[in-house]
Amino acid sequence: MKNNQVLHINVDVYEDLNFLEDSDRSLLLKAIEISESAYAPYSNFLVGAALELSCGEIITGSNQENVAFPSGICAERTAFYYAGANYPNSKIVKVAVTAHSKQFDVNYPVSPCGACRQVMYEYESKQDSPIKVIMMGASGQVRIMQSIADLLPFTFNESSLKKY
Ligand code: THU
Repeated sequence: MKNNQVLHINVDVYEDLNFLEDSDRSLLLKAIEISESAYAPYSNFLVGAALELSCGEIITGSNQENVAFPSGICAERTAFYYAGANYPNSKIVKVAVTAHSKQFDVNYPVSPCGACRQVMYEYESKQDSPIKVIMMGASGQVRIMQSIADLLPFTFNESSLKKY
């Protein structure tokens, strides 16, 4: 026997950042600003992430590459790990992610990589409240999703390790 399952996810698409609510737009502008600090001599792809915490703090991070490729880290994980280390009792309310390239126009909303989705999902499930995700390239549309879980269906999560 076979079942077919269709998943529905909610994605809000805005024509550009001018259509966003003020707090989302200002977080995205922080992500754009920090993307300039990326150390990305190998990919020339500069990513910025900005987090809004429940205590009101804004945490930012950019990608940091390494000549031994796997040793580098994405912008999202730079910011999430900093928040986890320095604000362990605050919740992460939103994350804005953006990227630009030195070689081409990133005119589509950049999407977090699989490893970052897994890491961000850990924080979302630990705090038991959704993290809104705001995504943009260097220009063009902004994509907003209401939770990391929407970005990562069929998660590998804590219950996967339990034997019932
Ligand atoms: N990168 C990020 O910082 N975040 C992502 O979600 C996707 C990829 C970085 C990693 C690497 O430094 C560069 O972008 C190219 O993959």
